[in-house]
Amino acid sequence: MSVCCEFGACVTSAVPVDFPDNAVEADVREGLALVEAVIRETSRTEESLLTEASLHLVDAGGKRFRAMLVLLAGQFGDPQDIRLVPAAAAIELTHLATLFHDDVMDEAAIRRGHPSANSRWDNTVAILTGDFLFARASRILADLGPEAIRIQTETFARLVSGQVAETIGPRPGEDPLDHYWHVVMEKTGSLIATSGRFGAMFSGAPEEIVSRMELACEALGVAFQISDDILDISSEAGQSGKTPGTDLREGVRSLPVLHALRSAEPGDQRLRALLARGPLTDDAEHAEALALLRAHPAMKAARADLIAWTGKAREHVLALPPGPARTSFETLCDFVVERTG
Ligand code: IPE
Ligand code: IPE
Ligand code: MG
Ligand code: MG
Repeated sequence: MSVCCEFGACVTSAVPVDFPDNAVEADVREGLALVEAVIRETSRTEESLLTEASLHLVDAGGKRFRAMLVLLAGQFGDPQDIRLVPAAAAIELTHLATLFHDDVMDEAAIRRGHPSANSRWDNTVAILTGDFLFARASRILADLGPEAIRIQTETFARLVSGQVAETIGPRPGEDPLDHYWHVVMEKTGSLIATSGRFGAMFSGAPEEIVSRMELACEALGVAFQISDDILDISSEAGQSGKTPGTDLREGVRSLPVLHALRSAEPGDQRLRALLARGPLTDDAEHAEALALLRAHPAMKAARADLIAWTGKAREHVLALPPGPARTSFETLCDFVVERTG
């Protein structure tokens, strides 16, 4: 299914990956359809504004990447285990909650090709809807047991600490790239790691596989954030369902920006001066920095990092038994690289 809107964006909500194995593909598709139904049902409440604001972004699309990972990791155990769908729905609802909050912090106007909740309504509605969805996710996990809740709360604490670290920036003397790896590991790697862990765990896979999947997915999560950083600069308006250049406008030092700032080339002086300024709120300066950055070798360096991090994810997975689950995970690694073009 694909959802097009007045912004000209076309945000697909179909599985964005073709898995090499037909049985895996069928299981994942079937599972995702069930996850979708749970998410929609869970978004409903007596307070109509909360329902409307929740469904606003649920219906806008999204890749359901994390839910897909839960289901895929479930292939290492019993893919029909009835705990997998609620676990995947809870992960996706948690992710959705963080998007409502992230758009407030990043002052983002567009999400999934539609006005973000903060721009369609206001910050208060966006924050409360994020809180509501997080509560709903926790309610689902409560039925899966205290261990599920414990992992969820620890994951969310990591995610929040990553967002805080991004907001504060590197400590005096800290290498900005080291700081970046810490931020993305916490803000994005944490939830994607838990997606893999939940999938393996709630399909009854052995402990060795659960911890391997967690490590593999954490590395894949870092790669996923790098691909998001690259797309923020390289994508055209309408392509990603978000406004290109949002990181630059907010002064968020994404990976290509950090690479460009490290350049000692005299020809990069203008770009470095623009990037060092912090938030680029002037439209002309923003457009200039975006154009310079798109053409800069920093983009290639970020892509090399992307490939290195998917390589780390692959290494973990190659330690697992061979078969369709492992091959499908590798396809997912390819997807994270290829989405950047
Ligand atoms: C966006 O995640 C936030 C990041 C961690 C980069 P996604 O790119 O998975 O967003 P949706 O769910 O597909 O909209
Ligand atoms: C992603 O933040 C991390 C979380 C939402 C926790 P970003 O700000 O990098 O993601 P996008 O680009 O807005 O989706
Ligand atoms: Mg953002
Ligand atoms: Mg952000």
